[in-house]
Amino acid sequence: MDAVVALCKRRGLIFPASEIYGGIANTYDYGHYGVLLKKNVVDAWWKAMIQERDDVVALDSAIIQHPRTWEASGHLAGFTDPLVDCKTCGQRFRADHLQELACGRKPSKHPGETDECDLTEAREFNLMFETTIGPVQEAGSTVYLRPETAQGIFLDFKTTLQYARRKPPFGIAQVGKSFRNEITPGNFIFRTLEFEQMEMEFFVPPDEAPRWYDYWRQARLDWYVRLGIDRERLRLRDHDADELSHYSSATADVEYLYPIGWSELEGIANRGDFDLTQHANHSGEKLEYFDPNTKERYIPHVIEPAAGVGRTMLALLCDAYDEDEIGGERRTVLRLHPTVAPVKVAVLPLLRKDGHPERAREIYEELRSHVSAEYDEGGHIGKRYRRQDEIGTPLAVTIDHQTLEDGTVTLRDRDTLAQDRVPAGELVARVNAAVR
Ligand code: GAP
Repeated sequence: MDAVVALCKRRGLIFPASEIYGGIANTYDYGHYGVLLKKNVVDAWWKAMIQERDDVVALDSAIIQHPRTWEASGHLAGFTDPLVDCKTCGQRFRADHLQELACGRKPSKHPGETDECDLTEAREFNLMFETTIGPVQEAGSTVYLRPETAQGIFLDFKTTLQYARRKPPFGIAQVGKSFRNEITPGNFIFRTLEFEQMEMEFFVPPDEAPRWYDYWRQARLDWYVRLGIDRERLRLRDHDADELSHYSSATADVEYLYPIGWSELEGIANRGDFDLTQHANHSGEKLEYFDPNTKERYIPHVIEPAAGVGRTMLALLCDAYDEDEIGGERRTVLRLHPTVAPVKVAVLPLLRKDGHPERAREIYEELRSHVSAEYDEGGHIGKRYRRQDEIGTPLAVTIDHQTLEDGTVTLRDRDTLAQDRVPAGELVARVNAAVR
């Protein structure tokens, strides 16, 4: 994990937020390549949800919803972690994670393990961030930053059903920021205070729920394999009955073998009719489907695949990170799948003179109209290759003396290190074929 964190900082993918003020716990900023990687992950998700199927529609609901949303969803009463305070070191700990946490005074021990530790009784602490609407804090002005994107989907179920002219089974998908007041150490971007979720609520006739649950369990696992993650480091883990959330009759996690061990990448839950029933009861609106063929009226059941953008990125980065040796020199390389690589091809003039930059820029202009490309003429060619290897660029094109004589360029492959001499006119086709 340390090597991945260091690489992310060195190459400006992901780094601690508010660093000039000493940082803020479990909060990170995404730099240029991090933004591109994130965008590629989200695009791949939308592609799988919308472009490759016709039974899911998109939504972008508000982050701040009516506060009664969270009463109905159960978050106000139950979205809590048990916390204990240590009166000796003044730190606060998750009561159910003491064995994994470090004592505030003696980090080699766990909280409560030394004679000096003085832990309070555990008390429940709600994870939702509160804020207020309007300039003064008064009764009724308290609102919450959403802790999941899912509830916005349930609130818009009726509207979507009407305008999208869908009938179950159909889904509503959304990507957006969620917020949780996590106090457990985050392990880089694994657990952060604000994070992007990719959630889809799939509404189905009740008797079809078990079949669709099985379908989405497998489909979501397969998606990570398609992004290039090693199948051996992925698994599906079914929750035991005592692990299930209050709304769920069955949940499975797609887990990845992170450096911190097997941990949740995505959850797939059978939420039954819990959410629509709750919101119908609290709002007074009927949230049901009337089937004109059977003349039946029913509350659809919901299968929910809920993924995190940050956790997907972390899995991709850990999986792709590699170190090898080229000509006796150590190389760090991100073997990212081309679909998610921030830059697909780098264009590098061998020299900063003799017409190399001019021809290289022409080639770059052409390539970037097709794929994400980067032009780099700064420094020794070996160093420029290393820089591209570290951000996971699958291909590099080098322009040299021969290019000006016979119109060929060198096409270098990040993984095999093969350097093929190819006519510049074939580059667009070669690059497109390699990265799509
Ligand atoms: N709507 C269901 C739901 O929110 P969840 O398991 O709490 O379920 C879904 O969250 C996904 O969101 C997780 O699998 C994880 O990828 C991501 N996630 C949850 N909390 C997170 C946090 N504090 N930081 C980063 N990602 C988080």
